[in-house]
Amino acid sequence: MERLFGRAWLVLGHESQVLAPGDFLTTRMGREPVIVVRHVDGSIQVLVNRCAHRGSRVCEGPRGHARQLVCPYHGWTYATDGTLCALPLAEGYDRSPIGVEELGLRRVPRVETYRGFIFASLAPDGPSLLEFLGPLRASFDDLVERAPAGEVEVAGGVFKHAYRGNWKLVLENHNDGVHPAFVHASSIWAARNGAPWDVWEKTGLWVARYGHSWMGDYHDDTRLVAALDHPVFREYRAALERRLGPERTARVLGELRWNSLVYPSCSFMSQFRQLRIIHPIAVDRTVVHAYSFRLKGAPQQMFRDTIAFANVVNGTASPVLTDDLEVYERVQDALTASRNEWVELGRGHGGDVPDRDGTLRGRTGTSEIHIRNQLAAWLEYLDMGGPEGRADAPAMAPQSAQRSEAPRQSRNAPRPA
Ligand code: FES
Ligand SMILES: [Fe+2]
Repeated sequence: MERLFGRAWLVLGHESQVLAPGDFLTTRMGREPVIVVRHVDGSIQVLVNRCAHRGSRVCEGPRGHARQLVCPYHGWTYATDGTLCALPLAEGYDRSPIGVEELGLRRVPRVETYRGFIFASLAPDGPSLLEFLGPLRASFDDLVERAPAGEVEVAGGVFKHAYRGNWKLVLENHNDGVHPAFVHASSIWAARNGAPWDVWEKTGLWVARYGHSWMGDYHDDTRLVAALDHPVFREYRAALERRLGPERTARVLGELRWNSLVYPSCSFMSQFRQLRIIHPIAVDRTVVHAYSFRLKGAPQQMFRDTIAFANVVNGTASPVLTDDLEVYERVQDALTASRNEWVELGRGHGGDVPDRDGTLRGRTGTSEIHIRNQLAAWLEYLDMGGPEGRADAPAMAPQSAQRSEAPRQSRNAPRPA
């Protein structure tokens, strides 16, 4: 929680959730409960949701609107940038608490946005957001560029689910092309939509620094809908072409990204406009919030499709999600067996192919390269306090280096000094 969730950039939400001054949402950054709020000057503030008086949570509920943030316990009142601006019986203090920095709501040190997505880091220093995202930026670009108006917005509510298992299991699963044939066998059988192994093997799977990865070349909605020459798709394409012209439109629609993973807390699908934020609650307890996005300027039917898709993959009655949650809990439970010391993550090892922008591509789409890449990042955060390292950080302990040699060498990320 401290070294990983306390340092990495975490996705907190999207600007469309806090449009007007006073709009806020509450969420967590690791163990810190936080408020994401639009301040009167238009800036987005991320404040620790803990009253400076005796520690009550100040904002309750997932979202709301308030001119000032008033603690429910004794009425301490904060401006939307966290400054304490009023309290009852202020004369009872030697010195007025108003304006005292420590008696405001603590501000999270770094807050930035990328294409409307709000990120924050609990660490005062470290890589910039752009450096952290690296080539994964293109996945966010892909999501936003698909909107005829060049903007997306969160819409349609949020699905929440929880499971009794570690948070890493979601990220390991979301780029796993082997499991659907087994874990989702019943829905594949019912829908008769299974893909042959060849499709999964040919799917692109890329990893980047800081534990990120994404899949591509799979589920080509352009081809599918275009083949049907669907009037809604024609209307959408025309709207997109009005902004981008035919060539760039073809390029945007031809970029096929499936699950993109922003390590350690987010998984999203640009093509289907879904984004999931992963909250570790305990070592064996995880909560996931799933959001849908509306492409501004696209036909309304497109958003209906997004919601239909969300119901299938993220809804509480989803036949797909429930399969995954069941298997996460089985893994968590069985990993407590003490006779096996290791799990096997060698699929595709040794076949990584260096690709554009410093990425590595898995030998095939079913490589476990993304898990090795996540664990290498995990190890760096835990060993060094962050992939940047610290001046006082000890060299890698020989024991962990021995065991992690293979995945570390398979990454092209610069090693910490
Ligand atoms: S705990 Fe917030 S006002 Fe007392
Ligand atoms: Fe799955």
